[in-house]
Amino acid sequence: MTNKYMYFVANWKMFGDLRTLNSLDSIIKFSNANKKNKLKIVYCPPNTLIRPLSKRLKKTKLEVGAQNCHENENYGAFTGSVNAGMLKNVGAKYIILGHSENRQSGETDKLINLKIKSAIKSGLKIIFCIGETLVEKKNKKTNQVLAKQINNGLKSIKNKSNIILAYEPVWSIGTGLIPKSNDLLKSVSFIKNRFGKKPPKILYGGSVNSNNVAQLKDIDIIDGFLIGGASQSSKKFIDIIKKTFN
Ligand code: PGA
Repeated sequence: MTNKYMYFVANWKMFGDLRTLNSLDSIIKFSNANKKNKLKIVYCPPNTLIRPLSKRLKKTKLEVGAQNCHENENYGAFTGSVNAGMLKNVGAKYIILGHSENRQSGETDKLINLKIKSAIKSGLKIIFCIGETLVEKKNKKTNQVLAKQINNGLKSIKNKSNIILAYEPVWSIGTGLIPKSNDLLKSVSFIKNRFGKKPPKILYGGSVNSNNVAQLKDIDIIDGFLIGGASQSSKKFIDIIKKTFN
């Protein structure tokens, strides 16, 4: 596990203001002290913090990402929206797309596909989220749902080199529940196998914390974690990283 790069992606959702950035001093220190570890730490704050955060992280190994974008790659009359290029311009290197919180408020596979294409054109790395709901899981539809989300979300995208998958069961996000190891292994293997010889990196997301990460990291086809709630505390976030490398 420690032989490959592990991703730790912080999804801050709609939390944080300029003062919050001070709390990152400890993670910057931690990252500087652990330069030899194969670590990729990516902070995805709200759009308002992308610029100040990327300035603050300039001389560090930490990177910055966004959480969503408009699908239009050009400027346009879309009140309240920003596109991928605009996010790149202020310092984002990554972007989370297809998060279930956005799917639940109406984002379709088709729209996600357009967003992914625009983000690729803008040169961002994409963290493409997929995952089944509890009802779908109970109805044994997990693989079917994952296959549909992958096929439609990545439709007619040939070069997938900038795409990282994040498997996030909807029922696991923010609930404290994580999948049984065997189920998680099956789902991640299923996702990987759909990509043939060149599988993407696959992260797990959903209630990752410093208590359950030891169990999660044992599934060695997982390339890292997408972390919501626990990423808002630098201490908890660092604990997760430490326990992954222990
Ligand atoms: P959580 O969120 O870690 O709070 O469950 C994960 C996510 O929504 O990406």
